[in-house]
Amino acid sequence: MAEVIDGKAVAADVIAKVTSASSDLAASKSVTPGLAVIIVGEDPASQVYVAAKSRTAKECGFNSLQHTLPADTSEAYLIDLIEVLNHDRTIHGILVQLPLPDHIDAGKVIQAIAPEKDVDGFHFVNVGKLGTGELETAFVPCTPAGSMLLIERVRGKDLSGLNAVVVGRSNIVGKPMANLLLAANATVTVAHSRTKNLPELCRGADILVAAVGRPEMIRGEWVKPGTTVIDVGINRIAAPERGNGKNRLVGDVAYLEAADRAGAITPVPGGVGPMTIALLMANTLTSAYLASN
Ligand code: GUN
Repeated sequence: MAEVIDGKAVAADVIAKVTSASSDLAASKSVTPGLAVIIVGEDPASQVYVAAKSRTAKECGFNSLQHTLPADTSEAYLIDLIEVLNHDRTIHGILVQLPLPDHIDAGKVIQAIAPEKDVDGFHFVNVGKLGTGELETAFVPCTPAGSMLLIERVRGKDLSGLNAVVVGRSNIVGKPMANLLLAANATVTVAHSRTKNLPELCRGADILVAAVGRPEMIRGEWVKPGTTVIDVGINRIAAPERGNGKNRLVGDVAYLEAADRAGAITPVPGGVGPMTIALLMANTLTSAYLASN
């Protein structure tokens, strides 16, 4: 059976370090990191994620602000709010929870965030820095950055000679993940819904990252023995065995089958999920540091 990668424990480590550094920053520079989280509408999953982000920010000793806006908020209003936060010296990180309602152009909203407060790493400036390997000054998207820390625990920092397959090509996970793996010297393939012979391709992976949003799509026989499997998926599926109307969380990987062959694997929940929030805190702290110098 595979080693189970405990994302919850690694995230707790990161959060403890951020909390201590945040308290040092307050003592030495009188700066308290400030994170503003904006949510538009009432998507239940987004509400859970945003509440966790705001709560963890408080636990880190940050100034944590949440703007909860109705679903019919206009794009102009949202961009005006971002402008105000861009100029607010007590705010170092601005996060607009995605997805946004259909009448709002998410791309336009993201580009309105000042790149130096873009702790999600979605602004073109940060995307460009990651793409060109300027990792020292880029804000890197939190889920792939957190996934890399978990990979590092198993494989070390240098992935030279290893084949990495990323299944999924989203701007939030798949593409930045591929760039981070490349920067760590892995040989990277990005697969997606139009890819042929996906099982065969996955069987060539030493590191397999699943970020497709389809419950248990990656099967055990797609996993080469010894592979490091990182499951980014969080899918809620019906669980009639738990009683009527009950559900449970599963990843994009068929966990038990894959764990039988993998060298190491992240569970869902308790794998990548907690890392996303931890890296958001780390990015916000970095932003506060840079602003204090
Ligand atoms: N929705 C799903 N994941 C994310 C994320 O990492 N950041 C934001 N802003 N929205 C998301």
